[in-house]
Order: sequence, then C-alpha cells, then structure tokens
Amino acid sequence: MLLTKDAFGEDFTWGVSTAAYQIEGAHNQGGKGHSIWDIFVKKKNKIFQNQHGDTACDFYNRYTQDLYLMYSLNIPNYRFSISWSRILPNGIGEVSEDGIDFYNRLIDFSLELGITPWVTLYHWDLPDALEKKGGWVNRDIKEWFGNYVSLCVAYFGDRVKNWMVLNEPMVFSAAGYFFGVHAPGRKGLDNFLAATHHAALTQTQGARVIKSMQKDSNVGTTFSCSHIEPFRMKEKDILAARRVDALLNRLFIEPLLGLGYPTADIKTLNRIEKYMKQNDEKDLIFNMDFIGVQNYTREIIRHATFVPFLQAKIVSAKERKVEMTAMNWEVYPESMYHVLRKFSAYPNMPPLIITENGAAFPDQVENNQVDDPQRIKYLQHTLEQVIRAKQEGVKVNGYFVWTFLDNFEWAEGYHPRFGLVYVDFQTQKRIVKSSGHWYANFLK
Ligand code: GAL
Repeated sequence: MLLTKDAFGEDFTWGVSTAAYQIEGAHNQGGKGHSIWDIFVKKKNKIFQNQHGDTACDFYNRYTQDLYLMYSLNIPNYRFSISWSRILPNGIGEVSEDGIDFYNRLIDFSLELGITPWVTLYHWDLPDALEKKGGWVNRDIKEWFGNYVSLCVAYFGDRVKNWMVLNEPMVFSAAGYFFGVHAPGRKGLDNFLAATHHAALTQTQGARVIKSMQKDSNVGTTFSCSHIEPFRMKEKDILAARRVDALLNRLFIEPLLGLGYPTADIKTLNRIEKYMKQNDEKDLIFNMDFIGVQNYTREIIRHATFVPFLQAKIVSAKERKVEMTAMNWEVYPESMYHVLRKFSAYPNMPPLIITENGAAFPDQVENNQVDDPQRIKYLQHTLEQVIRAKQEGVKVNGYFVWTFLDNFEWAEGYHPRFGLVYVDFQTQKRIVKSSGHWYANFLK
C-alpha cells in the first residue's frame, strides 16, 4: 500500500519536534542561567564520552538557516521547547530580555515562513537555581512553574496558541530522580515519588494558567508510551507486565483523567499519600484539549524476584535478537497502533496527537549525501499503524517526527542520530537525509 498524506484527512497536523537543550547550544549566551543539564553533563562519566550540549546544533545562532531548511522541506508545524533558564535565569525573579528576544525572533520567523509553532513549556531543563531549592521534590515547583508559564503566555501568547505543558514526566522523574542517570542525577524512591506527585500537580497547574489567560489556546501535555507484552504467557510474567505497564504508561494519564494513581497494580505507589494534601486529588484532574503520545518501541517483560518494588525486568531487544535501532530499541512500528488504541480506550479521552516518533540509525555521509532507507521504512510503517488505528475509530489528529536535526541525545550523547537532517557537529554543516527528502515529498 502506498500511503499518502490525504489518507489522514485535511485537519491532520504534520510537523517535527525538537527540545531546547538538545539543539540550542549557546549555554552561556544571552544571559542564560544554568539548567540542571548544564550542570549534570559536567559530572564525570554521566554522559557517553563525557559529551555535553554546550554547543549542540548551535541552533540559538543558526535558527534562521534551520527554519528556512524546515520550510524548504514543506514542514508546516514546529514543536520546540522553551528553555526556562534562558528567560528566567534563576527560575523565578528577574526576566532575561535577551531570552525573551530569542524566542520572539524564533516564533516570528517561523510564522513568516508559514510554520506554526507548538511550544513545549518543559522539556527537562529545570533552572539549576530551582534544583538547589529541591527541584521537582519541592512542592513549590507548582508555583514556580505557574509563574514561568504565565510569563510565556504573556510574552508569546499573541502568536502561540498550541502549548504542551510537560514532556514525558515519567521519564524525567524516573531517570532524573530515581535512577540518577539523567539530570539532576538524584536517586531513591522518596525522590521519585515526590517528583512524580509534584509533576502530576504541575501539569494541571500549567494548563490552568494557560487557559485562564488565553481562552482560544490549544493545551495538551505529552507522555512516553510503549506497548508492553509479557515474555511468556505465564501468570508471573503477565502480572509483571501489568506492573510495568502501570508505571510506564498509566502513572500520569490516570490521575489527569480523574482515575488516581495506579496503586492497585503497584502497591508502592500508595506511598505517594505522604505528599498528598487536601484538594490534590481534584487538582490532579484537568480536561486537556489534546494528549501528546510519544512512542518509539515496545517492551517485553518478565518476572524478576530480585528487582525491588516492581519484581519485573525488561527482556532486551539484544537478548531477543530482533532488529534494533542505534538506541538498542526494537524496531516495532506496531507498538504505535497498540498505544493509540490503549490511550483512546479511556473514557473522556481528549483527541491524541503523536508529538514524537522516530528512530536512530548509524547514518553515514557518502558523496555529501546521507541515505537512510531504514528510517524511511520505520516512519512509513509507523504511519500505516496510525492509519490502522484511525480507521478503527481512534481520534488521532497529528504526527510530529522526532526529530528535525541530529542532536544531543541526553545520556547517550551524540551517537544516536534521530534527525531528518544530518548534522556534522565539528563544522555544523547540515545535510538533508533521504528521509528528510521523503518527508518533504510526502508533505507536498
Ligand atoms: C524522548 C524525549 C526526546 C528524545 C527522544 C528520543 O523520550 O522526549 O527528548 O530524546 O525520546 O530518545
């Protein structure tokens, strides 16, 4: 079947996604304050080969050229994030005029090119000044964030209507506050549970602030989701898979929909009680305009007695000897179909938008070209799964490729290349990959 854009309907939103820390660079330009990522990358052996995002794609200085490239590839919507510490160097208090100016220029130039901005308000780069006060473990984050959001709406809301409050709260609370493998590098159950509850409260606080200031706004938030399957059809593995599903897929969407935390499947989550205050249960609920679904792979789960709290572990793609990406994730486009079905099955679920999907492969430059047929195949196969879900009645209204430019992939550094556009990080030269040309053609 040859898939065309028309099959998705006229109102379907097409775009690409990026995040500030992964592309902007300019870590100390324009009066920017440090974020937790600026600090974390300087610690020894946290990031692959001790790489960092100080310069990344230098998007801060090259955004006009990059937006022009986006325009030349027929991309009509651009999801990017605002770096909190670029506009509020201390997280609260004094505003950096240079920071505001940068995002004003970025938004204005996008609009000039006919590209609609979709703004993520938090893509993991917390101002370090706030981390010093406890970061996501401190309940005050709800107010700090609300204040930052109100500034963003006040400064940019005359041109920006599409907002995403948080990027993947499960990932930043688990990787950043439980495993310590992402910034700020904190560990332990108490940090994780506090960060989880405060992120869940903050996601609705942010949305309320936007709605109160901008009636015609389109407000959502984004979740990482993976289709989960048991390793064997045995009770122990099935139950283990259910626990992992509760953690990876249900932890943030269910309180948002008024269903509370999935404590029945993960008993340890009952300890969130400790951080709950009066009215929190109600405050966790908000009727978003859309939910951002971000999917890359599936996970196969088996029972593991010695893994604390979950008694479950992932059976890696390597162990299973299946086709993998440069992240060692299984290439499994059907996962998209399953997560769309799963999310849309909740009662009163707002429409879904796929705010991230893509794949990293070891791209090579040859004769000034980058040929990446594996990525084209992955994107095509995933889109077929989106259509499949749509034809079965799932309300899914958009798709954003992760990502536009090869960039800084968090703890993995620069080696996993996810871009439609290749970046030579020595020279900052860009080469549109064959997947970029394919997408441009698809969107034409
Ligand atoms: C997401 C994240 C992105 C990007 C992507 C690929 O979890 O939001 O920033 O890193 O995964 O790993």
